[in-house]
Amino acid sequence: MQMTRCYRMNALVRLLGVLGLVVHSVSAEERVAPGPFTDNECIACHAERDPRLVRQWREGPHAAASEVGCGSCHGDRHEDSSAKARKAQSCIGCHEGAASHSYTTSKHGVINTLGEDKQDWRQSLQPGRYRAPSCSYCHLHNGDHGNTMAPDRGPEVRQWICSGCHSPRYVREQFANAKRQLEIADLKLLEGETLIASAGEDRHGTLAKLRQNLIRHRKNVLYGVGHQSPDYQWWHGQPALDGDLIRIRDSVLQVLRRKLVSDKPEE
Ligand code: HEC
Ligand code: HEC
Ligand code: HEC
Ligand code: HEC
Ligand code: HEC
Repeated sequence: MQMTRCYRMNALVRLLGVLGLVVHSVSAEERVAPGPFTDNECIACHAERDPRLVRQWREGPHAAASEVGCGSCHGDRHEDSSAKARKAQSCIGCHEGAASHSYTTSKHGVINTLGEDKQDWRQSLQPGRYRAPSCSYCHLHNGDHGNTMAPDRGPEVRQWICSGCHSPRYVREQFANAKRQLEIADLKLLEGETLIASAGEDRHGTLAKLRQNLIRHRKNVLYGVGHQSPDYQWWHGQPALDGDLIRIRDSVLQVLRRKLVSDKPEE
């Protein structure tokens, strides 16, 4: 009975095949369609196959809220879709400015750029296969579609990723230095904001502009330590914050002096 049904099925499939109706026959059930697909199609199909991955994407920084869909990193076809996403170029287009510049001018970035053509990007992001990390090696490690360098991942994930290439002691020191540098930068940020608040007024928006600079330079320190860029830790980071504080102090003093003069009783 079973046999007959099976035989009949096969005969039918063969017949349809001859007629050209079954394009890739039954055994190619797993064959990947080439695309192109819309983001909604990628999500619908992969939510079934890789529910964890799609959940990570939804909860991570690139979810629907920031409108960075699957195709933004992978392209809209299956051809080399992972290889494309692993290259720094797939991130730099959107994260231009300090986020990318701090990386491309770091040792990791320079080594990566010089070796880009020789690197086989079809390999998954694992130690031994890449000499220096690209953006996704650190931020989407092991195909994790959240952000594997977010502080809330803790040392277990973040330091472990670096330790594939560096000694754990070296990596611990790097993260300890990063923490110290960010604490110092936060003190400077607080000092600047307290000074600005003490002025009580900002007639020409000068202090608001100076405050924007403070925030930008605090972020440069983060990029500096996160992306191992001495330039961003120092020139664009800490000394820039020191310069901001001098300018803020000057401006606040001017406001206070002006107030003192205008508050003087009329003679
Ligand atoms: C109709 C279902 C379907 C759709 C739609 C679909 N995929 Fe896939 N995709 C698959 C299957 C099947 C595989 C291969 C088996 C696997 O790894 O899950 C695959 C594999 C992949 C891979 C791994 C390939 C590799 O080289 O490592 C990536 C990346 C991928 N898809 C991304 C996408 C993106 C991006 C889209 C939308 C532009 C998309 N997929 C649309 C079914 C689909
Ligand atoms: C921010 C860029 C980015 C976005 C957005 C993104 N991916 Fe990926 N994806 C990657 C990178 C990088 C890899 C390779 C990871 C690795 O080698 O460890 C990857 C790997 C994959 C793989 C292969 C996983 C494996 O374990 O081999 C699949 C499947 C995939 N992505 C599907 C999707 C789908 C579906 C979406 C949308 C819901 C999506 N990706 C959105 C960057 C992205
Ligand atoms: C289509 C544009 C686009 C692409 C491509 C893209 N991103 Fe993003 N990314 C964004 C947006 C938008 C956000 C959310 C807003 C923000 O924080 O800048 C974001 C957020 C992030 C964050 C979190 C920032 C934070 O403030 O917490 C990281 C880390 C990140 N992206 C890394 C990457 C990496 C690595 C790649 C390449 C594999 C990549 N992105 C590709 C647009 C993009
Ligand atoms: C060696 C690992 C590594 C590489 C390579 C790397 N990053 Fe980062 N990135 C980090 C770390 C660590 C941080 C700091 C995270 C923190 O503490 O908030 C960071 C911070 C960021 C942030 C800011 C996140 C925030 O909270 O504001 C963005 C955006 C970002 N990286 C994007 C990129 C892009 C784009 C590239 C490639 C051009 C890249 N990263 C390469 C490790 C890396
Ligand atoms: C895929 C391998 C790889 C990974 C992962 C990696 N690095 Fe590196 N790193 C390198 C290589 C290669 C160099 C260059 C060494 C040399 O020749 O000077 C380097 C250099 C450095 C430097 C020296 C920079 C300088 O200006 O001298 C620091 C600091 C550093 N890495 C920290 C980290 C941290 C922190 C992480 C994780 C967030 C990390 N690395 C992840 C391979 C890697």
